[in-house]
Amino acid sequence: MIQTICCIGAGYVGGPTMAVIADRCPGVQVTVVDLNQARIDAWNDADLSQLPVYEPGLDAVVGRCRCRNLHFSTDVDGAIAAADMVFLSVNTPTKSKGIGAGQASDLRWIEASARQVAAAARGHTIVVEKSTLPVRTAEVIQTILGAAEGDTPAGRKSFSVLSNPEFLAEGTAIGDLEAPDRVLIGGEDPAAIEALAAIYGHWVPAERILRTNVWSSELSKLTANAFLAQRISSINSIAALCEATEADVREVARAIGADSRIGGKFLKAGPGFGGSCFQKDILNLVYLCRHYGLVEVANYWEAVVTLNAWQQQRISALVVRQLFGTVTGKRIAVLGFAFKADTNDTRETPAIRICADLLEEGAQLAIFDPKVSAEQIALDLGQQPEASGSANGSSAANGLSGEGVWQKVADPLEAVRGADAVLVLTEWQQFAQLDWAALAGVMRQPAWLFDARAICDAGAARAAGLKVWRVGEG
Ligand code: NAD
Ligand code: UGA
Repeated sequence: MIQTICCIGAGYVGGPTMAVIADRCPGVQVTVVDLNQARIDAWNDADLSQLPVYEPGLDAVVGRCRCRNLHFSTDVDGAIAAADMVFLSVNTPTKSKGIGAGQASDLRWIEASARQVAAAARGHTIVVEKSTLPVRTAEVIQTILGAAEGDTPAGRKSFSVLSNPEFLAEGTAIGDLEAPDRVLIGGEDPAAIEALAAIYGHWVPAERILRTNVWSSELSKLTANAFLAQRISSINSIAALCEATEADVREVARAIGADSRIGGKFLKAGPGFGGSCFQKDILNLVYLCRHYGLVEVANYWEAVVTLNAWQQQRISALVVRQLFGTVTGKRIAVLGFAFKADTNDTRETPAIRICADLLEEGAQLAIFDPKVSAEQIALDLGQQPEASGSANGSSAANGLSGEGVWQKVADPLEAVRGADAVLVLTEWQQFAQLDWAALAGVMRQPAWLFDARAICDAGAARAAGLKVWRVGEG
């Protein structure tokens, strides 16, 4: 029976996942460790609104368990030594240089944490891959751990390795964790598999806990993300065709989604998928296929990513085209910067590429997002914000000098003041309720609404005198 869990990596997955395990298994002590002191401090902040990850409902779960059986610490070795089970939940981004750069996963953090587990563990330890990993990574982890197995002064050391990928989506993480469609456990050691199944068994119905071999488990995670992303690229490709043919992508999505074999989810056209995983996991799949000589399979999946990049680029091009071919010196209100609603995460958000294109064209961007900080936007755009007051809507400050500038503003009304266009990039619910009569009144006419999420009340915007483009509307 598992009594003590350690999770290495206190990020978007490690934090919420362990919080729910601690909540549902009050008899298990759970410690989440990270090298990042600031992140651990934020997880321990008495003010629950300061948690490093914004997820609806997370503050309540952490508030219930923290100090009871949920702990956040930088003492990685101590937590490993005390644990019966260690989850590896560290980042696995795409490699930026060396062999496989731009496609393969960078496994340096997973290897470093496996080595740390090998050194610090005591007795028998079940090591669980929670990070998304290339197929056969468990073999690498097993090899590293195997080298440390044997008798030690503290007793016999041994390991079992399991794969247990995470399927939560940001913004709905707590609901996804509390009522998962399935939990997937891949492994060879029946006792280890049942020990992990027993943890989930506290709240997940038995028929939803799937057991597979370890390679199928690793590959299922990459495949699930590839299929989800493929649906988005598919609907975005049809959105472009709708715009050319006067069809409406929402009507098409409803019509095809009514076919129970297709289903209605993940058929929302938009500015392209963002988030830390879809692109990285597909590229990883592409890399694996090439590694195994499956060139056609690799090309097939790569097209999903190519289409996604094209969708982002065509939106910035469309904005420039509609604003008489130039946005130099023009104020454009950007509503939403996060990669989806209900998260503060901006990793791979379509807003980065679209805003960067518009800045390159010399636009003055007034960016509003309810959860993303100005510091994060500056990091993402690689450019500091314009000093307060200069991008004030007069279009005079930088005027026609051609330099693109941006500012973060406090609300949509401030964003649109003096703007030639509003560009909606994240589907925050508040954008569905905007008062278009009030907003249009403070814009420079003729003014545009470019709604890349089709979330706004287009009828009200048109009635207020705006020209409107909605993704996928002919
Ligand atoms: P993240 O970057 O938010 O968190 C990873 C954390 O691991 C960081 O805080 C980092 O400091 C820490 N870390 C790295 N190496 C360490 C080490 N040796 N010791 C201690 N701490 C270390 O990443 P994330 O979004 O939580 O993703 C983690 C994994 O889960 C990735 O493989 C990702 O593909 C996968 N995943 C993510 C999501 C998601 O929604 N974000 C969903 C499912 C799966
Ligand atoms: C996604 C998967 O949904 C999770 O199952 C998976 O665990 C996770 O990746 C991961 O491995 O990291 P996430 O990226 O958090 O979760 O969010 P999604 O809801 O999948 O959205 C991804 C992107 O696709 C967002 O930019 C979103 O706006 C976009 N999207 C989604 C659309 O454009 N249209 C849709 O119909 C759905």
